[in-house]
Order: sequence, then structure tokens, then C-alpha cells
Amino acid sequence: MAEVTVNGTTRPLAGTPVHCTALDFLRGLGLTGAKEGCAEGECGACSVLVARPDGRDGAGSAWTALNSCLVPAAALDGQEVVTAEGLGDPGDLHPVQRELADRGGSQCGYCTPGFVCSMAAEYYRAGRRANGRADHEHGPNGFDLHALSGNLCRCTGYRPIRDAAWALGDPDVADPLAVRRTSPAPAPAATRLADGVGEFVRPASLAEALGLLAGHPDATVLAGATDVGVEVNLRGARPAYVVAVDRLPELRAVSLDPIQIGAALTLSEVERALDGAVPLLDRVWPQFASRLIRNGATIGGNLGTASPIGDLPPALLALEATLVLSSADGDREVPLAGYFTGYRETLLRPGELIRSVRVPRPLAGLTAFHKISKRRYDDISSVAVAVALDVTDGVVTRARIGLGGVAATPIRARATEAALEGRPWTEATADDAAAVLAGEGTPMDDHRASAAYRAAMLGQSLRKLWAEVAA
Ligand SMILES: Cc1cc2nc3c(=O)[nH]c(=O)nc-3n(C[C@H](O)[C@H](O)[C@H](O)COP(=O)(O)OP(=O)(O)OC[C@H]3O[C@@H](n4cnc5c(N)ncnc54)[C@H](O)[C@@H]3O)c2cc1C
Ligand code: FES
Ligand code: FES
Repeated sequence: MAEVTVNGTTRPLAGTPVHCTALDFLRGLGLTGAKEGCAEGECGACSVLVARPDGRDGAGSAWTALNSCLVPAAALDGQEVVTAEGLGDPGDLHPVQRELADRGGSQCGYCTPGFVCSMAAEYYRAGRRANGRADHEHGPNGFDLHALSGNLCRCTGYRPIRDAAWALGDPDVADPLAVRRTSPAPAPAATRLADGVGEFVRPASLAEALGLLAGHPDATVLAGATDVGVEVNLRGARPAYVVAVDRLPELRAVSLDPIQIGAALTLSEVERALDGAVPLLDRVWPQFASRLIRNGATIGGNLGTASPIGDLPPALLALEATLVLSSADGDREVPLAGYFTGYRETLLRPGELIRSVRVPRPLAGLTAFHKISKRRYDDISSVAVAVALDVTDGVVTRARIGLGGVAATPIRARATEAALEGRPWTEATADDAAAVLAGEGTPMDDHRASAAYRAAMLGQSLRKLWAEVAA
């Protein structure tokens, strides 16, 4: 029977509509702390904690904050959820709630339960203090403010919220949520829920998933739901047949040598697993949405949307990544450079899914990722430029550049690559290549940026890289 554990109590999912969000489900239980501010992953008022694998061979769990407005309730079958109510109550405040209250971190309170959950996830992050460093983004207690990058507050102002975060101590050894981290996260449940509108299926293995997709070629593959959830909430999408792939073991493996990343790993999991092994991707992570989104969004979902303004495609193009695609007919490997065939079109066949991403070694020695957007964090790219250069004895021996936001698909800047290769890596070369780069693609005018601005930003990117290296 489909059920979810919420604040320690088992709650049946039977009878829940297939497209009901986790947020609506929780609020329907009377747990109205989590709020709907935007229903599109932007405000964090809906965040809750979910026990997820901590990446240590399945040995432990990590309390992971997610946007409950995007995740379907059905996807929580068999999982453990904690809401702000489960952390503490007015008579027995959780340390996070106590610090927020004591330091004036809440006024109207609409955003507060969401902040409480995001803050609690960071409070419980294993090794927070040991790995932490004190700078403008990290408190003396190692608290990383990026943990709150997906939470908006309209009235309190962020300084008291930051003060609360940076005043937190360590969880008590007897704290039940701290203790819970030492045992494995719940295994994914094999789920099948249906109503008159749609059906949600969570297969147990890749073979089963591919069989289902072969029988339902129009099925919607669902991973973190950070894109599909927005379509459901804001654009009225009601997929008739949903196949959840986010917990398939075959799509969640990662290796460093060779570099192979399972498509269903979330961006937070990939960041943790690679642990700096691919410096270009390390430049992408902090600029990709917010921690809340990165905790749900998968690498396969980012490629699955085929958005021309997705952030991973430019980076993976510069890294010359290939994709392993799986269907009931078997696997095939395709270069990412040939994967995008038109605006939001790819060479994925009906019944096929992305299984993993491979990044060839050796990695380029000089890399950069420049995302131009209206806000520094948690915004969509107007233009994204990823550069990977090999410079040997002062000469550019190999140049790979991926671009987003300047054509109907993410593209390689091949003319610029040719303008760089074989030339000495000097300011004059960077300037000459920058002029070529400004002419790449077919940028458009839209509400995010004008075509002229996009072209100018392309040109600036190589000059910026030169300046960064020179500095
Ligand atoms: C507030 C907010 C901020 C965002 N910011 C950014 C940003 O800064 N940069 C950026 O690039 N994106 C951003 N996004 C978009 C989104 O988070 C990403 O595209 C994310 O990687 C999607 O992954 P997912 O697992 O949530 O995909 P889902 O929503 O589950 O699926 C997205 C699409 O991919 C398909 N799909 C999923 N997995 C596979 C697979 N294994 N094989 C084949 N198809 C698959 C699905 O069928 C669907 O069409 C943002 C979204 C939100 C809501
Ligand atoms: S309601 Fe705004 S992020 Fe969910
Ligand atoms: S306390 Fe009012 S929105 Fe944050």
C-alpha cells in the first residue's frame, strides 16, 4: 500500500490524485506550515525535509530540503518527510526555530517554515563544521548560506536570518533526526497510483522502466520534477502516464575514472560525488538555481528538457561529453554535440531515456563558466559560455567552447575554437577570438535580453577569462 511517513506518522497515499503535489497533500493533512508562495520553485515557502541517501554507499541518510510544490505526492511513496511542525512546536522549539525567534528572523512568518526546513537541512549536514570555512558565505559554524539560496523573505530582511544560521551549534547526540542520519534512507517503493486523469508508476529496475516505456511511448519520464512540476502547476499539464526514474539504481551510479555520471543523480549528489574532480562543473553548481532546486534537479532532467538556456549543456559540450541512451532495444552512446536536433528536440527516440553522461579524460587545464543572468543566483541564463582550453608551452592546443542562450539549441562555438587553436595564449589572441565569439550563434531578442546584448556578452566572455587568468 502506498504510504509516506510524515513527522514519524504513517500516512496513506491511496486516494491522493496522481497530480496532487506533496505540498497540497501535506497541507491536506493539516500540516499548513509549508506554504505556496509561487508554485514554481522560486520562493522556498514550501520546503520540507526528506531523508535521502547521503552518498556513502547507502550507509547513511542526509536530511535533504526539497520544494514540496514541485514534487508529486506519489513520488514520496515509502519515503520519510519532516515538516516544520515535525521539527518543533511553540512549547519545544527546535534549535533552528529558537535561533530564528531569538534573533528576530521572522516577521509575518509566511516564509519562516520554509527557512526553518532549509536551515535544518544545513544544520544536520554531516561534516558541516569540519568542512566549513568562515568567509562572507560561511559562518564560523561552517553554515553555508547557499543552503538558503532558494528561500525568499519579503519582510524581515536577511541579516537576522543569517545571524540565526550562523549562531547554530551542533545537533545533540540524542537528537532523533541526527541519529536518523546514521541508518540508510528508505529504499524506493515500487509504486502504481492511478486516478481518472493519469497514472504514476515507479518501476523497480531499469529493465522494468524500459519495458513500460516501450509499451507507452508517449509516457512522461519524471526525475526531480523541477521542470515537469512547473508545467503541472502553472501550465496545467496533466501527463497521462508518468514513469518515475529518479531512484532507479542503474541511473544513480557514478564513477571518477572513467568519469560517468548517472542521469538520475541530483545536482547536489553529483557535486558531492565528484568532489572537485571536474573543475568546470564546480563553476556551474553555485550558479545553477538554488540549493533547494539542485537537491531535486537531475542531470538527465536538465538534458531531457533540451532547453536552449539550460546550464549543463554548454558545460558538458565544452567537456565533450557523450550520453548513454537506453531503450528496450539496448544502449547506444551519442556525443552530446549531436544530441540536440532543434528547438527542444533531441535524437531521443520514443521509449528511450538518458542513462548516464560520460566525460572523457584528460580534462582541459583551463576552464571557465560564465553565466549572464539578471540575478547572481537562482536565475535563468540569458547567455551561458563554458570554455575548456589546453595550453601547452604557451600555445592553445585544444579549445572547446559550449554556448547556451544564443541559438535554438545549445551549441559548440566551432569558429571560435578554430580561431584559438594553434595560436599563442595571449591577450591579442583572446581579443581576436572574442570578436569571432561575438558572431557565433543566432541570438534573439526576448524578455531576458536583446540579441545585441547577448552577442556583446559572448565577446566579453573570453576577455573575462583572459583577465581572470592574468589576475
Ligand atoms: C526555480 C527554478 C530554477 C531553475 N534554475 C535553473 C538554472 O539555473 N539552470 C538550468 O539549467 N535549469 C534551471 N531550472 C530548470 C530545472 O531545474 C532543470 O532543467 C533540472 O535539471 C531538471 O531536472 P529534473 O530532474 O527536475 O527534471 P524533470 O522535471 O523530472 O524532467 C524534465 C524533463 O526531462 C525529461 N527527463 C528527465 N529525466 C530523464 C532521463 N533520464 N532521460 C530522458 N528524459 C528525462 C522529462 O521527461 C522532462 O521532459 C530551474 C527550475 C526551477 C523551477
Ligand atoms: S511555493 Fe514557492 S518554491 Fe514552492
Ligand atoms: S517573515 Fe514575512 S516573508 Fe519572511
